[in-house]
Amino acid sequence: MTKTLLLLPGDGIGPEAMAEVEKLIDVLNAEESAGFETDRGLVGGSAYDAHGAAISEEDMAKAMAADAVLFGAVGGPKWDDVPYDVRPEAGLLRLRKDMELFANLRPAICYPALASASSLRPEVVEGLDILIVRELTGGVYFGEPKEIVDLGNGQKRGIDTQVYDTFEIERIAGVAFELARTRGNKVCSMEKRNVMKSGVLWNEVVTATHKANYSDVELTHMLADAGGMQLVRWPKQFDVIVTDNLFGDMLSDVAAMLTGSLGMLPSASLGAPDPKTGKRKALYEPVHGSAPDIAGQGAANPIAMIASFAMCLRYSFEMVEQADRLERAIAAVLDSGIRTGDIMAEGARQVGTVEMGDAIIAQYRELA
Ligand code: NAI
Ligand code: MG
Repeated sequence: MTKTLLLLPGDGIGPEAMAEVEKLIDVLNAEESAGFETDRGLVGGSAYDAHGAAISEEDMAKAMAADAVLFGAVGGPKWDDVPYDVRPEAGLLRLRKDMELFANLRPAICYPALASASSLRPEVVEGLDILIVRELTGGVYFGEPKEIVDLGNGQKRGIDTQVYDTFEIERIAGVAFELARTRGNKVCSMEKRNVMKSGVLWNEVVTATHKANYSDVELTHMLADAGGMQLVRWPKQFDVIVTDNLFGDMLSDVAAMLTGSLGMLPSASLGAPDPKTGKRKALYEPVHGSAPDIAGQGAANPIAMIASFAMCLRYSFEMVEQADRLERAIAAVLDSGIRTGDIMAEGARQVGTVEMGDAIIAQYRELA
């Protein structure tokens, strides 16, 4: 069975990191008959340069049709002054909106070799493996009214509105419970039901969804501010955390930094399952941006992009064995003392993007 992948490398270090994943795809096709069929498109500043939009209609159509989209990064000083509607980020926002990617998955995994680089004590983070599931298309970032009102007395009022409907909470909770079943079987739901009506509803709907379909999974609830404290106090108490768009934005950044550099962090964004095929639309991307300060130097850490591809294998193609093996290969390469500049440590050997990619691919084959 063919598996279609759309590669959108983007700008800056995006293409450099993507090139390492392309080598991996070739290995999977040649040595494991994985059957990946790849197509490429432009997004961000490079798309703007080519056709005056942050993503073309043709590439949007390809993204809608693909089994999964791999996205690099967009943006850079070259495009700081382009019109707002066609700025590089608009390409990513369009993809998220049209593909209805409502579930953002952000793992925080602490590789043993990097535990001592954390801002927390090594024993607090060593072996950490949690997954934050953030609602991505609703909540206060999108709710109406959203405006600045002139009150006419020299004062203005800024208004954002937190809105969640039952179906939005049900579907994100469903994703969290389903993922928990493939991991530690625990979900902690975070909201602020003590001060927010949307938090009361969130709590009710998550509880009802659990009771109806997922009572085999352990469910706990935590107020989101307390959750922030617990994340830095003892993060290993969590398996899957499910939360709204705003709290998820902050809590996923906090959790990510427990474990090290931006260059290490993958993410996935998933949509609803197709009623006919059961397949979810999906986009996989590193958390980092286009890193203009190091672009073109071959110095970028490709691990965030490679780990995003591991998530793609796991969640879009059920290639769990390969995903596990790729993650073990990353850990083994870090153990061997090879580092890109962003995660460089005393006594380690500094390498560039290509060497890091090659080392991970060599490990991956060795672990077969
Ligand atoms: P950034 O993530 O690009 O870089 C922040 C710092 O981390 C820089 O010092 C960079 O060199 C370093 N860094 C990031 N990824 C790295 C990697 N893989 N290996 C080694 N070092 C790495 O964020 P910044 O500087 O705020 O934004 C730069 C551009 O990227 C802007 O145009 C911004 O709008 C865009 N951006 C795009 C995102 C996306 O495509 N999803 C996300 C964040 C920013
Ligand atoms: Mg953020």
